[in-house]
Amino acid sequence: MTSQFDHDPFAAAIDWDSEAIIQRRNRFYSASQRAFVPYATPLIFQRGQDQYLWDEKGKKYLDCLSQNLCISVGYNNPVVTRAVQKQAETLQHCTTMFFHPVPAHFAEELVNVMPQGEDWVVHFMNSGAEAIDFALLLARSHSGNADVISLANSYHGATFGAQSVTGIGGFRHNVPLLSGIQFTPCPDQYRGIHGAVVEPYLDDLDRTIHYGTSGHLAGMFIEPIQGYGGIIPLPEGYISGAFERVRAAGGICIVDEVQAGFARTGENFWSFEAHDVVPDVVVMAKGIGNGYPLGAVVAKREIAESMANKFYFNTYGANPVSCSAGRAVLHVIQEHGLQVNAKKVGAQLMRVLLKLKDKHDIIGDVRGRGLMMALELVKDRLSRAPATEEMARLFELTRKHGLVASKSGAYRNVLRI
Ligand SMILES: Cc1ncc(COP(=O)(O)O)c(C=O)c1O
Repeated sequence: MTSQFDHDPFAAAIDWDSEAIIQRRNRFYSASQRAFVPYATPLIFQRGQDQYLWDEKGKKYLDCLSQNLCISVGYNNPVVTRAVQKQAETLQHCTTMFFHPVPAHFAEELVNVMPQGEDWVVHFMNSGAEAIDFALLLARSHSGNADVISLANSYHGATFGAQSVTGIGGFRHNVPLLSGIQFTPCPDQYRGIHGAVVEPYLDDLDRTIHYGTSGHLAGMFIEPIQGYGGIIPLPEGYISGAFERVRAAGGICIVDEVQAGFARTGENFWSFEAHDVVPDVVVMAKGIGNGYPLGAVVAKREIAESMANKFYFNTYGANPVSCSAGRAVLHVIQEHGLQVNAKKVGAQLMRVLLKLKDKHDIIGDVRGRGLMMALELVKDRLSRAPATEEMARLFELTRKHGLVASKSGAYRNVLRI
């Protein structure tokens, strides 16, 4: 593959030798960034096009993970690539103390895909965790309350604030995280403590508020479909019931659409829309930028106004190159019917996975919405004991057969597709 940069005398050399890549990374990455290697041997990627990836030796893979749900409109999507190139050639950055039309256009376009009838405003940042941190600060600033509720088995990011509202032990570091955060049981219909019901989980939330907080809430964080938790769609009635309780206690309702947003779930543009609710704050990242660093918090104006008197900025928030990528992504999703596609292909995938479940007892559960699917392996269907080792073997086999997916869930026995 040649590109216009191959003959650039200033182009930095790239060593594509597999062993050299592994050794250099192991030698120069810090332990915290080295730690996460899902396969028995490292998988190196060189190139992506549409839904395919190629490793450094030229082997082709069907990518069913999208770099952890970031690639929403395909690798090297020509509309996105061109938009980024054009902006990068014109002005690479414009900090928010100066004005630039691109982020403002994008803010308007994002507001247009939010539920109508509300006065939404946008704050841009660079990542999901930054957006979660901001939402936490906003909830506390707006309500004047400190107590926050989050769901067990949730993932909201790795910064101090985001980690503090993350309910998966494996992602929490052994240090004092933020105080004032209580976890309530997740209404997981397959593995949850009450099984496939809704009301008992809402009763748990009542108890969490009553016993674990002052009774005055800042807010609650909810992923309508838990991602790293193992693709756990929250059941009908839970989110609306939770919203009622949180608002009655003075808090705001924050939905995390970092994985499930941007039409991925097929039926709706936002996953919360399947629950007939309107959140107060929506956190988004990943699919918003198709791989370019971008995150946003979209909030009701009267809530966002609570922070009018305090300066808050991330240097690269509202960067025009990232926002150009975001505009192009939104355009492609809307103009190329990707939501309908997610619904159609997701339904086909669901049919195939359910057939596999009929055939293989080791598949305990198949679940998801649109193009956010999972199959969970169990030792036997009665005890539902997680088949973690079997999943590790299956996972290596998917790689061998040219498929990229993820092993997720609290027991790493869920194939996240
Ligand atoms: C649901 C959810 N929220 C927040 C985050 C944090 O996003 P980031 O990794 O961009 O900080 C993630 C990341 O995986 C996520 O899955």
